Amino acid sequence: MEQIQEKEKTGIDIKDIKGILKKFHNTSESLIAILQEIQKTFNYIPQESVSETAKYLDIPLHQVYSVATFYKAFSLKPKGRNIIQVCMGTACHVRGAQQILEEIERQIGIKSGDTSEDGEFSLETVNCLGACALGPIMVVNGEYHGNMVTSKVSRLLKEYSKK
Ligand code: FES
Repeated sequence: MEQIQEKEKTGIDIKDIKGILKKFHNTSESLIAILQEIQKTFNYIPQESVSETAKYLDIPLHQVYSVATFYKAFSLKPKGRNIIQVCMGTACHVRGAQQILEEIERQIGIKSGDTSEDGEFSLETVNCLGACALGPIMVVNGEYHGNMVTSKVSRLLKEYSKK
């Protein structure tokens, strides 16, 4: 028994995970597609799904973990209801992205990479989003907010926490 299996359980129903697994062939080539489906369904990759996937595909647990941690699209931690991304690419950086990031961190009380305790917000930084002329950019749930200034942060956070 690998030690990694001893980690805390998340309360996710194993039946839901098995339902997802059944949609895919039980060969290791299905691993990424399975993880994508799990991420989409639960908004993260729950602990139980890692071990169930390893069992289903008959591959070592660490193989599932290494794929789940390699791709940025996958998260092993539950994400917040609202996903905030701040572009830290060069163009946004020179236009004040760091101050925007710090203001968001201060207002929510979390650091980049974390999720607020109430599950309302997750905060991430990203590199160039390809819309440099609009910098600095803050993206919430895929919606772009360009030419950001620190004074707009509070209003935006309030709007999204109500949605
Ligand atoms: S650097 Fe932010 S969009 Fe390009």
